[in-house]
Amino acid sequence: MKTELVFTPAAALSSELLAVFAVDNNTSKGKDTKPEIALLTSEEAVKKAAAFVLSSGEFKAEANEILLLHAPEGLKAARLLVVGLGKAGKATPHDLRKAAGTAVRFAKPRGIRSLAIAAPTASFDTELSLRAITEGAIVADFDSDTYRTDRKDRSVESVTVVAPESFDKAAADIGHREGVIVAEAQNFARTLINEPGNRMTPTILGGKAAEMAKEFGLACEVYGADKLHELKMGAFWSVSQGSDEPPALIVMTYEPAAPQSESAPVIGLVGKGITFDTGGISIKPSEGMEKMKYDMAGGAAMIGAMRAIAQLKPGVKVIGIVCAAENMPSGKAQKPGDIQIAMSGKSIEIINTDAEGRLVLADGLHYARQLGATHLIDAATLTGAVAVALGQINAGVFANNEDAFQQFSKALEISGEKFWRLPVEDEYREQIRSSIADIQNTGQTRYGGAITAAMFLKEFVEDTPWLHLDIAGLAWLDADKSWIARGPSGIGVRSIVEWVRSYAD
Ligand code: BES
Ligand code: ZN
Ligand code: ZN
Repeated sequence: MKTELVFTPAAALSSELLAVFAVDNNTSKGKDTKPEIALLTSEEAVKKAAAFVLSSGEFKAEANEILLLHAPEGLKAARLLVVGLGKAGKATPHDLRKAAGTAVRFAKPRGIRSLAIAAPTASFDTELSLRAITEGAIVADFDSDTYRTDRKDRSVESVTVVAPESFDKAAADIGHREGVIVAEAQNFARTLINEPGNRMTPTILGGKAAEMAKEFGLACEVYGADKLHELKMGAFWSVSQGSDEPPALIVMTYEPAAPQSESAPVIGLVGKGITFDTGGISIKPSEGMEKMKYDMAGGAAMIGAMRAIAQLKPGVKVIGIVCAAENMPSGKAQKPGDIQIAMSGKSIEIINTDAEGRLVLADGLHYARQLGATHLIDAATLTGAVAVALGQINAGVFANNEDAFQQFSKALEISGEKFWRLPVEDEYREQIRSSIADIQNTGQTRYGGAITAAMFLKEFVEDTPWLHLDIAGLAWLDADKSWIARGPSGIGVRSIVEWVRSYAD
């Protein structure tokens, strides 16, 4: 999908569909009060075209509520789509992102191939709102049914974002340009996640990362089993040993153009890239197991983030590592009770071979530090327990450092993604104590499973400022929403990119 930004009156723009946003100015809560709908445009022609139907009171401007008008009088557009943002004064740029997505997903199945979206005039920051609209539109264009031969809803080909002449053009341009980069990176991650296990092996994932790196000017190495042995990555290797598919250690590097001082931060991104998680010998029940193709969503988020970073060119060095493997049962597979020695030298008692993500990340995090990372972030579909704790609204974030967490909170304000902080505290360490090794790979009880997984990872980051994103509950959406298709969500990409940029000089 192509997007462009133009500065003209929306009424004068020919298009198949013009979307405009609306709020309810009546902010009182009483149940009998009537909505007072206001379109967020300063153009009288647009307001006039919708005035009659809006006065009927049918349309309440609730978030993502839509109202369609054919042949709107006085406008060049063939259709006018009003998209609600909720009560006036409450809407955020993220509501705008969703509303723009709602417009695109309305158009898509109706054969509308090009549309215009009018940027709202009131109360939004220009750069952030342009960015949000652009991201929302591009993210909304993705659908996961690529293997259906009767696939009908082709892409929306072009979206024109229409901004009034009065806007700060430079700010709007930056917002639009960055929105394109970040949303395309998110969709790229979704494309990787969407592939099934037979078409997305560790080797294929490595190939995709290398291809992307070449296209966008990043250094990239993809190592196989030999390198894991050479680096003594006993934890990572143990997960891959049961599979006929070799593991892949993917290392992508972004170097800023300006030379960095010795003391400059180096950001390490580490992603879980389990291309299929059967559970291994501790095999999962067959019901729902097909979903475990998305167990590389954390790794894909890092590849997507590196793609955006390569284009946004922040002034900070970034190393992206993806630990890719397939977790399979076989005569060569690791067994409960096995002892593995991680790259850091720590011994691990394997209690459950299905707790494999933390094993590959243990070596990935240690390796990132060895390569010079001063600040770490990992992303992983690590535990079912995080979804038990937080549902499918918030993903989990864990931090061993307040500054890193604060920077991440700020990044969330821009990305619009929802992450809720969970604790990493020494009292929980007890849970992963082993009687025969340094640690064991699962907690002694099922309680706090997302936290014990984070405690396990913490052992391998030591004092390096670190964030852990457990995205198991949100990486795959089971149902369509008005602004995003069911399937891989690409969660993490936007927030990780923004967090990395907060360290730029
Ligand atoms: N990949 C799973 C976690 C997962 C569950 C991701 C549901 C997406 C949806 C992970 O490797 C796993 O199996 N974790 C176990 C850990 C347990 C054995 C301690 C879990 O969550 O049950
Ligand atoms: Zn598992
Ligand atoms: Zn897993």
